[in-house]
Amino acid sequence: MVEEAKFLYIETYGCQMNDYDSSRIRAALNLEVVDDPRDADVVIINTCSIRDKADHKAFSSVGRLKRLKRNNPLVILGVGGCAAQLYGEKLLERNPHLDLVFGTRNIPMLPKLISELRRERRVETSFDVEDIFEVEPYHEQGRVTGYVSVQQGCNKKCTYCIVPSVRGEEVNRPTDKIIREASNLVNKGARELTLIGQTVNSWKYNGERFSDLLRRAAEIEGLLRLRFTTSYPRDLTKKLIETIRNTKEVCHHIHLPVQSGSDRILSAMARTYTTVWYLEAVDRLRDAVPDMALSTDIIVGFPGETAEDFDDTMKLIEQVQFDGIFSFKYSARHGTPAAELRNAVPDEAASTRLRELQELQREITLKKNQARVGVVEEVLVEGESKNSPELVSGRTSQNRIVNFNGKLELKGEIAKVKIVKAFQNSLRGQLN
Ligand code: 5AD
Repeated sequence: MVEEAKFLYIETYGCQMNDYDSSRIRAALNLEVVDDPRDADVVIINTCSIRDKADHKAFSSVGRLKRLKRNNPLVILGVGGCAAQLYGEKLLERNPHLDLVFGTRNIPMLPKLISELRRERRVETSFDVEDIFEVEPYHEQGRVTGYVSVQQGCNKKCTYCIVPSVRGEEVNRPTDKIIREASNLVNKGARELTLIGQTVNSWKYNGERFSDLLRRAAEIEGLLRLRFTTSYPRDLTKKLIETIRNTKEVCHHIHLPVQSGSDRILSAMARTYTTVWYLEAVDRLRDAVPDMALSTDIIVGFPGETAEDFDDTMKLIEQVQFDGIFSFKYSARHGTPAAELRNAVPDEAASTRLRELQELQREITLKKNQARVGVVEEVLVEGESKNSPELVSGRTSQNRIVNFNGKLELKGEIAKVKIVKAFQNSLRGQLN
């Protein structure tokens, strides 16, 4: 008879969706989490495949597990997430020390799989279950922020993107299940929730639209703040903008990936909007909600991107004045339409463009942070500050991090804080 597993080590790569899935894995397995894989009975690597760098990270962490298995043959080694979904059996061929490869849609099966594997040594791959949302995430009692998944997969056809093939078609979660999970998190002490989905604002269910969902979630007793990510520009409807304006719990920040400032490239990416359309959408948002913060994603070096195309991207950045940008070098993903395109941008040119873009945005971000000095901000306190334990830390509605001299009792409350200093990635404040 094999003893039941007690300890879990889990390593997570990639986006919020993967963080969320790791919390679900933790809840599903119900094991004690340890910081050192050598102390674990079950080791899970939750992988990402958005760019080839992410792939490499996944593979190297999987490779590192070989020694672990040699020293402790009883440990169960599992690889999940997007790279697992993408490479499947191939991962097992290359890594015979693995016990389990599981996809992005079958976390509910994990407890059964793992207990079987502990009894009967064999190798398992498993990729689909019926109710992909069945397991709710682990949430530490008293943690101020939490995620709720409202959607899995993606129906957009962006030519560079691997997500539709690793997370499947868009599946929207029923409203009542979302609200129930959100309420459970609030009961455990969450005061700010982020609704997550690949294109979260495309969510619809039984005739309800995303703005209806936001309003329903905002009504949850005890919830102070509501965020959502990631938004697809074309689904930024008038109704959604009105809901952001009229629902006080909804934070004034939106992540709205533009990807490029060149219409030629946007069209090759199949993004379904032009730069003029995007700029007008930004105007509509800012007209309705003047203090709305805006962040975006940009890919540089998409096949065929000329110096002029890149220049257009830089102009768009100047014009919009984003609060923050996540920028990436294009990475060809096998099986996506863009991977077939010729006219690759030389790596060196792409790196130079990325550097220039990031430099420009660093200035804009800092300038925007500096403009907050002297302003009294409402900060939802999340806990101790990461780098200075004598300070507490939280975020403004616009998602800016503020560290200030407050007591830990403020955790979970909104404090009025006067901003006294601006840094690149955070603000320093003083209790007002
Ligand atoms: N190469 C580079 N960046 C990519 N992204 C998605 N696919 C790729 C790719 N193949 C970026 C997009 C997206 C973000 C999550 O990752 O900007 O919005």
